[in-house]
Amino acid sequence: MKKILVTGALGQIGTELVVKMRDIYGIDNIIATNRSRREGHELVENGIFEELDVVDANKVHELCKKHNVDTIIHMAALLSATAENNPLMAWNINMGGLINTLEVAREMNCKFFTPSSIGAFGPSSPKDKTPQDTIQRPTTMYGVNKVAGELLCDYYFHKFGVDTRGLRFPGLISYTQAPGGGTTDYAVHIFYDAIKHKKYTSYINKGTFMDMMYMPDAVNSIIDLMEADPAKLKHRNAFNVTAMSFDPEGIASEIRKHIPEFTMDYNVDPMRQAIADSWPNSIDPTAAREEWGFKADYDLSKMTIDMLEKLKEKGI
Ligand code: SER
Repeated sequence: MKKILVTGALGQIGTELVVKMRDIYGIDNIIATNRSRREGHELVENGIFEELDVVDANKVHELCKKHNVDTIIHMAALLSATAENNPLMAWNINMGGLINTLEVAREMNCKFFTPSSIGAFGPSSPKDKTPQDTIQRPTTMYGVNKVAGELLCDYYFHKFGVDTRGLRFPGLISYTQAPGGGTTDYAVHIFYDAIKHKKYTSYINKGTFMDMMYMPDAVNSIIDLMEADPAKLKHRNAFNVTAMSFDPEGIASEIRKHIPEFTMDYNVDPMRQAIADSWPNSIDPTAAREEWGFKADYDLSKMTIDMLEKLKEKGI
């Protein structure tokens, strides 16, 4: 990986991934791209930044050529709740962006990464310790996109030899850039409200368990997978990864260890609840551990301490 183009660089994952990759691979070797430019944003000001709407195939091609990239990290996509509200738009952006970037990877012989998700599972998948290889019949447009994406990436590997790799991410918790339009976002919002108001109203019901991971582990897992010896990868698209599984009560009681007056009530959003109910309680990351040494440093308690500390430093 010498010249790396990242799409969706100003999104929740991209923001932290680009900073870390600029550190590792050099500031001039990471081309951060996003649908819109945000003037004054650290990523826009301190390195190479280009505006790129991934549904514009010509522009994807033009920018990859211009910067002579050998790796594409394709992050731009709509998350589950937004996708469910705009299924056609989700299809166009999530699948259109993927095929456009894969095509350029094929043409320019690039390494390729794109994330899948726990959303690639559905109600008929095993709920607990969901295996790497199992039934995948998701009932959301996001899930349909993710399963199709996993298959498409496998296809580009087998058919054209493109070095495609991917991870099935759980909900990602981070303090730098908030997620937008996901089902697991509550696990980020709860920290902001706990600090600001000592109170949070959860749109996900108690007893709803979902996998989660702290962003530093997510960023490291992308880099570790991309650096992994291809001879050891039996799976490519996409590895189950996770660090913890909790329900709203679980994270609330962890926060209460640090903010004892914190309270939580519920105003369940039927759409996001239905999405969450269709996803696993916990997935099994054994294949990722065995094939490329996946590990997560943050569990619920360590992540909670760090989130509260970092958000307070930010002045939240
Ligand atoms: N965090 C994502 C979402 O909730 C799941 O991949 O949409």
